[in-house]
Amino acid sequence: MNTKLGLTPPMGWNSWNTFSWNINEELIKTAADAMIETGLAAAGYEYIVIDDCWSEMKRDENGRLVPDKNKFPNGMKAVADYIHSKGLKFGMYSCAGTHTCAGYPASFEHEFTDAETFAEWGVDYLKYDFCYKPAHIPGELLYKRMGMALRNCGRDILFSACNWGCDDVHKWIRETGAHIFRSTGDIQDNWESIKNLATSQFGKQGYGAPYCYNDIDMLVVGMYGKSCNEWVASKGCTDVEYKTHFSLWAIMNSPLMIGCDIRNMNDATKNILMNKDIIAINQDPEGRAPYRINQWNNPERSFALVRPLADGDYAIGLFNFGDNKSEMSLQFWDIGLPAASGRGLSLYDCWEHKDEGVFTERYCTQIEPHDCKVFRAKVVKVK
Ligand code: GLA
Repeated sequence: MNTKLGLTPPMGWNSWNTFSWNINEELIKTAADAMIETGLAAAGYEYIVIDDCWSEMKRDENGRLVPDKNKFPNGMKAVADYIHSKGLKFGMYSCAGTHTCAGYPASFEHEFTDAETFAEWGVDYLKYDFCYKPAHIPGELLYKRMGMALRNCGRDILFSACNWGCDDVHKWIRETGAHIFRSTGDIQDNWESIKNLATSQFGKQGYGAPYCYNDIDMLVVGMYGKSCNEWVASKGCTDVEYKTHFSLWAIMNSPLMIGCDIRNMNDATKNILMNKDIIAINQDPEGRAPYRINQWNNPERSFALVRPLADGDYAIGLFNFGDNKSEMSLQFWDIGLPAASGRGLSLYDCWEHKDEGVFTERYCTQIEPHDCKVFRAKVVKVK
């Protein structure tokens, strides 16, 4: 058993957001190549995950899932071997119901066989969806079943539960053995969706912690509205919105699963996805959740997310969800630092990659619409 599975939020790429049903061996292999060549792997991304639509419509005579013969003519072991030869890890997808969301056979009442099949193929990560669940069977039980099957299949497989936040999932999911849990509906490549998903989890952040993180869904950074799936593609976002999206997911401890075509990323996308200072916050070994402090005169739209990091630093994100420029002032009193302590905060700007200076009592700034600032703050003595 690898006790490091799920210690920090997983990082990788998933086929769904851009390619959906349009997947095949060549795509997955070239995505693995791109993961290395672009520097994403060096930045910490390691999983290549095939989402829905990978199998034949029927199980074989032994009740086993069968990869689609046209999309994956050499089977899944060959794909896994290729991904592993690059030093990466391989993820696949199934569903707790009778069928996957796209209507392919799923794992209900086949949990132990399927876990064994995935282990034989060399799978390292299983995303486990929630469509076509028999109405009278509790989802909680089905996640417990697959959790047990995966823990006993002979291979370390990260368990990514995906029930979209139904049935108060945050209250029981850790008990199933899942390493991450989707707590939201599906993301779309637009600003409203980013805001809504993040906002829906404020107050539930404390339920995510090492070994079982709150997953706010895959990233849309760098998609610019391009996908064969029109619903996901939506309108696309600006680079500023992608920067804010990535900052939110990082500071909120969500898995960082890229959804754009990593074989064709522009510089802005690369700079966002490979920002090592932001990634370091997401991957902080203590995995503590952030809390929210609202801007007093614009509480709905301007707020800070603050979380303690393992080395004594604090991650501070200042966000403007509004459509107008907004003041954002963080009173240090609100995060536990009174001026009378003789201490202030030395702020390092994680997007500008430079020191902002030492501040006492408060930090005040203006944030552009849909933008953010993210600081790594050190507590320092001041005269
Ligand atoms: C659900 C999930 C998505 C994706 C699709 C595939 O909608 O939430 O992330 O896996 O199914 O059909």
